Amino acid sequence: MKLLVYPGSFDPVTNGHMDIIERASKICDKLIVAVLVNHGKTPVFTMEERTMLLKKAIGDRENIEVCSFSGLLVDFMKRINARTIIKGLRAVSDFEYEMQMALLNRKLDNEIDTLFMMTSINNSFLSSSVVRELARNGAGVEDYVPHSIAPYIYEKFKKAGV
Ligand code: PNS
Repeated sequence: MKLLVYPGSFDPVTNGHMDIIERASKICDKLIVAVLVNHGKTPVFTMEERTMLLKKAIGDRENIEVCSFSGLLVDFMKRINARTIIKGLRAVSDFEYEMQMALLNRKLDNEIDTLFMMTSINNSFLSSSVVRELARNGAGVEDYVPHSIAPYIYEKFKKAGV
């Protein structure tokens, strides 16, 4: 079975992530979307919230599963017996960090490979931090995140004042 793992912090999931999820799910038997901790970032949404928002955005899809894990990506992959990571690339600016991660993960486990998929051009400017910044300042995010999750994003920023 061709298993792909799409890891990220998804704080929150955006239409850019959804585009990769849609397209990646068509080139594998099963896509595991893995919510992980990026120690370089302080998330606004909890792990549970990020996982819930992803599940809501994806809905009931036979070959897509959403999981969360708090250790190393390679350990998660080993646990589920997966060998291939898929990541989205928006621009050359993403490349350096993603190459470092891909090489590091292969150094940690030489059976693991990373594939890259180019984000669609209309999402190339989009990121979770852009969505957070818009929501924090009271601007609409409906064009940038799945419609089903926009209300949760507004609610979070209204409640927490983050
Ligand atoms: O969406 P992001 O923040 O670019 O995703 C990065 C993520 C979460 C995939 C990456 O930080 C990660 O793999 N975290 C888990 C811990 C890990 O394995 N780190 C890499 C080796 S130090």
